[in-house]
Amino acid sequence: MALIAFVGGTGPEGLGLAMRFAKAGEEIIIGSRSEERANRAVETIREKLPQANVRGALNAEAAAMGEIVFITVPYEGHRDTLASLADVLAEKIVVDVVVPLELTKRGVRAITVEEGSAAQQAQKLLPRAKVVSGFHHLDAHLLQNIDKPMQGDILICSDNREAKRQVMELGEKIEYVRSVDAGVLANSRYLEEWTALLLNLNRIYKARTGVRIVGI
Ligand SMILES: NC(=O)c1ccc[n+]([C@@H]2O[C@H](COP(=O)([O-])OP(=O)(O)OC[C@H]3O[C@@H](n4cnc5c(N)ncnc54)[C@H](OP(=O)(O)O)[C@@H]3O)[C@@H](O)[C@H]2O)c1
Repeated sequence: MALIAFVGGTGPEGLGLAMRFAKAGEEIIIGSRSEERANRAVETIREKLPQANVRGALNAEAAAMGEIVFITVPYEGHRDTLASLADVLAEKIVVDVVVPLELTKRGVRAITVEEGSAAQQAQKLLPRAKVVSGFHHLDAHLLQNIDKPMQGDILICSDNREAKRQVMELGEKIEYVRSVDAGVLANSRYLEEWTALLLNLNRIYKARTGVRIVGI
């Protein structure tokens, strides 16, 4: 069991993933730019899961303590946040869940990232870290509804096979979630862009969609 930290863990996605991992018995640190918000997030988790092994910390402290560090900040804060944590994240498994998106009048649109994807940007900023990309297709609201099992697959990619294996195994601690090996980190652009499509489908169908790969 590895200590799991969330940078930007006070938002719906970080909180939702943290709740699911806490429910599975994992030890969690919720990171924030503010200790007060981190502690409030810890209380929110404990309201649902009184036995949760969870504590709050500033992002830098959370990143330093975590063995697997999830990045769940909005894309606007992605580059600066990672650059500021480069030393503490240097050798870690860093799981990037960030989706570069913008809202337009016609729906959600994926933002083009110079490096190819948010995850590749992370790898460039953290050259020695084992960057893994995944979990983009798990809806934050459904994740926080912890009494209901999740549905669907998570697609996980990385250039580091061992880190990918560990994160795939961790993902399957979320009830009914299946991890699918999505290959190298460069494939993250497809995972990130696909999320924009899911959000547009959510709007059209007034639903909370996910992904299920058939044939494997
Ligand atoms: N929501 C979903 O269903 C979903 C699904 C899949 C993937 N994602 C991705 O997961 C990430 C997190 O999603 P979310 O909805 O939880 O996001 P969010 O609520 O917008 O942000 C998460 C946390 O990041 C911190 N933050 C906000 N602006 C920041 C900045 N400029 N720099 C550094 N930290 C900042 C805030 O925490 P503090 O103020 O406490 O520091 C905030 O609570 C996003 O990149 C999103 O694309 C979301």
